[in-house]
Parts: sequence; structure tokens; C-alpha cells
Amino acid sequence: SRRRVTVPELTARKGGTPIVSLTAYTTPMARQLDPHVDMLLVGDSLGMVLYGMDSTLPVTLDMMIAHGAAVVRGSSHACVVVDLPFGSYQESPEAAFRSAARVMAETGCAAVKLEGGAEMARTVEFLVHRGIPVLGHVGLTPQSVNVLGGYRARGRSGQEGNAIATGAFAIAEAGAFAIVIEGTVETLARQLTADLSVPTIGIGGSPACDGQILVTEDIVGLFNDFTPKFVKRYADLSVQIGQAAQAYADDVRARRFPGPEHVFAPKPSGNTPNA
Ligand code: KIV
Ligand code: NA
Repeated sequence: SRRRVTVPELTARKGGTPIVSLTAYTTPMARQLDPHVDMLLVGDSLGMVLYGMDSTLPVTLDMMIAHGAAVVRGSSHACVVVDLPFGSYQESPEAAFRSAARVMAETGCAAVKLEGGAEMARTVEFLVHRGIPVLGHVGLTPQSVNVLGGYRARGRSGQEGNAIATGAFAIAEAGAFAIVIEGTVETLARQLTADLSVPTIGIGGSPACDGQILVTEDIVGLFNDFTPKFVKRYADLSVQIGQAAQAYADDVRARRFPGPEHVFAPKPSGNTPNA
């Protein structure tokens, strides 16, 4: 198959064919998605989606590295980006470099993502100048849920919109190769897409963004705790999994499973033919 999409190739998509991106946390899911997307994000949303945590804050660097490596192993085409989790980068550019260098070296991914605006510009520049491509993330930034007070859409007031715009320009200027705009009023996401020189990747952003990303489990019906307004549902796999488990349970209780084709015959002896 084709070689992997590179970070500069994603940046070059500004204003062109939309960048298609989904999250992946595991090897089997990465294998399914890889042929269809340009970028796979190993998001810290895995804390909520895979581990049942009630925010992304408890996710650790070791968790991100384990899942990042699994996704790299399960893909050969998409550009793999791994989220830096809460607490692993906010303290200083040096702390961010140590965390990001572990992620890059131990997973084989192509880039990291971190949340934040102007306050993260020095960190983005520090990483990029030392060989680590950075995907920005502005607007609704789930690692700041305790400061923001919830997951409501951002940029509704002019003041909040200005802060988001200032932050997006600061991290673009600092060298981010693209910027995720999450949960942000459509007009602002559209304006930022028009004004920024790097691609914007929307999730609850705007159809005008240079790309789109969603959480895979949200679009296939494998995460049903809550569904943000910006999610479009393309399948309902939880129904099929429940039906499979029910059919298996019925078979076991009725002794219909295992059948003759699922059990091992004794070792063939000298003159007795044996299937
Ligand atoms: O953690 C995540 O999945 C993300 C995307 C939703 C952008 O950050
Ligand atoms: Na994330």
C-alpha cells in the first residue's frame, strides 16, 4: 500500500481537499480506519471512551504511549498523532519536550497534539525547533474543563472569541503544523480558517475548516454515555455486539455451542484415519 502521509503533506492541504481524520486507540480499530483517513489521532478521549473516566484529566503518559504504539502498529498509511495528556506538558517547555520525546520515541508516531492558546506558544516553538511536530487544539479544550466549568461551546461572546483567535494565531506563529478547532461557534471557526496560514481541523467547528475529525466510537455507536451535537452517527455497533453476546449466551445455555467443528479430535493413531 501507499507510504505514510507526512506532516508537511497535511500542512500543504491548506485550502485544498479536506483532511479526513478519526481517532483510534487500538490496533484492530487502526487497521479498519487506516485506508480511509489521512490522519489517525490517538486522543486522550480514550480516558472516557475506553476507560470509563469522567474526564480526560486522569489519563497518563504511559497510557498514551501504550495506545499510541498500538495504533502505529495497526496502520501504514495514515499520519499518526498522539495527544499529550494533562499534566505532561503544561508546566514548562522542557517538561513538554521530555514527555513528547518519550511519545515520539516509544510509539513511532509522527507528531503530538497539545491543548491551549497563547500560553502554549513558547512550548510549541520549543518542541518544533527540536524536531517534534505539534498539532494545536483550541476552543473547547477538555483538559481545562475545571476552569471552563463544562463542555459548552466556546466563542459565543466577543471576548471569548478574541481569546480563541489570539491563541490560534499564537500557536500557528509558533510553528504548529495545523490546529484542531473544537466546539467553537461556526462563524469564528470559519473566520479562523480563512485567516490562519495553517490548516484547521474542525470538530464542532465549521464545514469550511480544512479538515474534520470525530471520535470513532461516537460515529459507530460504541460510546453512548453522551453524544455531542457535532457528532454524526454512521453505525450502531453496540446493537450488533449485544446481539452477538445474546446469541452466544443462548447457544451455551442450550448446549448448541461448541459444535463438532469447534472441538479437537483425539490424536490420529497408526491405522485409524482421522479428520
Ligand atoms: O482526545 C480526542 O479525541 C481529541 C479529538 C476529539 C480532537 O482531542
Ligand atoms: Na484530546
